[in-house]
Parts: sequence; C-alpha cells; structure tokens
Amino acid sequence: MAASKEEFLWGAASAAYQVEGAWDADGKGLSKWDVYTNRYHGTEAVIGKQETGNVAINAYSRDQYLKDIAMMREAGLNAYRFSLSWPRILPEGVGRVNQPGLDYYNRLVDDLIASDIKPVVTLYHWDFPWVLHEKGGFHNRDVIGWFREYAGVVFGAFGDRVDKFITMNEPYVDVFFMDLVADNIVGRRPPFWFTAEQYGRQVPALHNLFLASAAAVSDYRAAGHTGMIGIAIPLSPTIPADPNNPADVAAARTWEAFHDRWSLDAPTRGSYADEVLATLTKLNPRFSVSDADLALLQASRVDFLGVNFYAPSYVRHSADRPLGAEPGINPDELKAHNGPVRPEALHRLLLRIRDEYDNLPIFITENGAGFGDRDEVMVDGVVKDPLRTDYIARHIDAVLKARSEGADVRGYFAWCPFDNFEWFRGYETRFGLIHVDFATQKRTPKQSLFAYRDIVAANA
Ligand code: BGC
Repeated sequence: MAASKEEFLWGAASAAYQVEGAWDADGKGLSKWDVYTNRYHGTEAVIGKQETGNVAINAYSRDQYLKDIAMMREAGLNAYRFSLSWPRILPEGVGRVNQPGLDYYNRLVDDLIASDIKPVVTLYHWDFPWVLHEKGGFHNRDVIGWFREYAGVVFGAFGDRVDKFITMNEPYVDVFFMDLVADNIVGRRPPFWFTAEQYGRQVPALHNLFLASAAAVSDYRAAGHTGMIGIAIPLSPTIPADPNNPADVAAARTWEAFHDRWSLDAPTRGSYADEVLATLTKLNPRFSVSDADLALLQASRVDFLGVNFYAPSYVRHSADRPLGAEPGINPDELKAHNGPVRPEALHRLLLRIRDEYDNLPIFITENGAGFGDRDEVMVDGVVKDPLRTDYIARHIDAVLKARSEGADVRGYFAWCPFDNFEWFRGYETRFGLIHVDFATQKRTPKQSLFAYRDIVAANA
C-alpha cells in the first residue's frame, strides 16, 4: 500500500455557484454564471425553464451551512472540498478586495476546522468574474496575471489554515463545454452541437488556463507555503464504440489525446505530447506552445492530481463532428446522468496514473451519480436511492483496490453532499447524498449517505 503519513480523506465536494446563492450579497461582483442564468436564461434552452443559482441551497447563510456541516460530520466525513467565488472576493476580478466575501470564507474555514473537517479549497470552479469575461476571459493571456493576483489574495488569507489547494476545476469542461453551450444559447443555436471552428477557437483559451494554474502553483511555493497544491481534471478513459472498427478505434485515440491526455500532461509533466499537439493543431493550425510556456509549465508541476471521474467515454467515428469523434454514447439501459457506470474504468485509470505518471499522489476530487426520479424515492423520512448507493460503493471498491495495488490515492470526495444547482440542467438533476427540497431548503438524508457513512466507518 502506498505510504501516506496523513489520514485518508473521506469527503464530499461542492462548488460555490452551485450551493451559495446570495449572488449579489455584501458587495459580490457578477460571475459569468450569474449572467448566463439571469440575463440569458441559460437553463431554458436545456430544461425548458429558467433557473438560477441566485438562492441555490443557501450555503452563504452561516445558520444553514453550520447545520450542513453537522450532517457531514455525523456521516463521519473528515474533509470537505468547496470552491471560492472569485467575484465574491474580488468583485472586479482584480484590484479591490471585498472584505465581507473574505470574511465569509474565513468563518467557513474556521467552522469546518472546529468540526474536525479538513477544508480542501478550489480557487476556481467556473464562476469567472464577468468583468474579466468581457475583456476576453481565457482568450486574453492577461488571465494569467488576473488569476495570479486572485490566487495571491486567497493564499494570503487562508494559507495558514488550509493545506490543500486546487487551482481550478475541470478547465477542459469550462472551456470546451460550458462556455460553448453558453455561446450557442446566446447565438440561438442548438445548445449541444459544437463545430470544429468553435473548438479551434477554444484551444488557446485552455492553454492559457493551464498557464494561469501553473503560475499560481509557483507563486504558492514562492510564498513559502508548505501545503499541497493541485488541479482537478475530468478524466473519461475512452473506449471505441466498436472495438473491431478501426475508424472507431482511431476516433477514440484522438478523443483521448484531446480530452484526457492534454489535461493530464500539461499540469503534471509540463509537456504537450506529439499526439496532443497534432490534435490541437488540426483544430487550430495557428496554435503553438512556446518554449517559455513549456518552461513555466515544467517549473510549476502540481503536487497532486485531483481526479474527477464519473464514467468512461464510448467514442465512435463521425465525419460531421470535430476531430471526427463522437463521444458521449451510453449503451446502458439504466442511464446515469453523467455516462455509463463502469467502476473498472476508474480502477484502470488509477493504475495508469501509477504507471505512467510517476505514481503522482491522487485525490478523487469528484465521483458520483444520479439516475433521475426513479432513484429518488422518499420512504419514511429517507430517500431511497439504491442505484446511487450501488454506484458509490462500487467506485470506492475500485479506488481501494487500486490503492492496495500501489496507486498513491490519498482521498475520496463524493460529488456531492447536497443536491444543488446542476449548471444548465438546473435543479432537476440530482447528485446529492442528501436530498434538498429547494422550495423550503429542507434536507433529508438519502440511503447513499448512510451507505457512505458505513464505508467510511469500516475503513477509518
Ligand atoms: C462538475 C460539477 C458537476 C458534476 C456533475 C462535474 O463535471 O465539476 O460541478 O456538478 O460534474 O455533473
């Protein structure tokens, strides 16, 4: 078993925009999600009605979050991963600090520690400051400096009590999915149809985000902090839809370079593999990576990898998709929201990181599922969710198996403790271990919470 002096983290994870609400309280600035939801009615194109994170699950209220922390504590969790809202701390993205925003997170950090729950802080989980978005957002290389400035404020304020930071959550999904859906909605096009041209435009943006993350990593160390800093990336190992069809096999390989390998290599090896560069320049012939950029990436490699795993990706060849690859096929009869249920793919992935990435320390920073109403049945004050319960148990088994085989996994965070605002899918798509009645804010435990509690107790 991989040696780790620290206790294994058993936690759950959330993101500011999905839980906090209080979108305009106490001097907070606007994030792009405030605008996507309120001005562009982003969820309407996807679920047929307008929903926003304006209230969400009210986690900005201390009364509320103290009760929520108590529920997590009762379930035996020893860690909570949450994100900070950048525009709550810096309303204009840079410059003026909003003290009430910092105060909120300061209290939250203290309250978690007082409950023996380790705070694991994500600096950025998609709620980018709107003012900076209007200045070109990630397309503007100034994002490197903007993010450094914000990260410096965060490290200065919380670095004394928080020793695990995650610079960014799933930059790939932010850039190649969420922003493109938003772009389509604003342009009144079908939300989920992306063109090669759109993809091409986004390529330098994701590169800029990796540079911004790397710059923050090196600033963290230069400031003398001794905790660990990493990044959370979405990993969906590819499987050819038809393994006997060479076109599907090739499409799966290309998709792997684009979706997984790029996000794995840039922050951990500080490199761009030939097949990654070949894929990216197919999308954007002008894209290149300078020696200076590579030097920055290499000098600022992460201490750990946050693995967000939901499902592998079945890929088939499709001539009218960018890169000729169509991901997102789900052969399961009983479909989970985020793809086919294959815990063995998580096990394989962890061994791959063990073998190909120098056995880098790993935290499973997200893993979870939802299956819709059929798996959310209220019986005697508990929500029965046998499918989610089974999903969580089997994925934890896969993680512990990989750990027993030497993968340096140091923690597992279920996504998510409470049902919350599921981005363009609004409130209908539930992933929580604890049910939330969004009209009353009433919390009701689910069967999966009790099952997770028992697993944690058995492995403590
Ligand atoms: C994101 C979460 C999201 C979850 C479930 C992840 O990709 O990081 O914010 O709620 O998936 O869809």
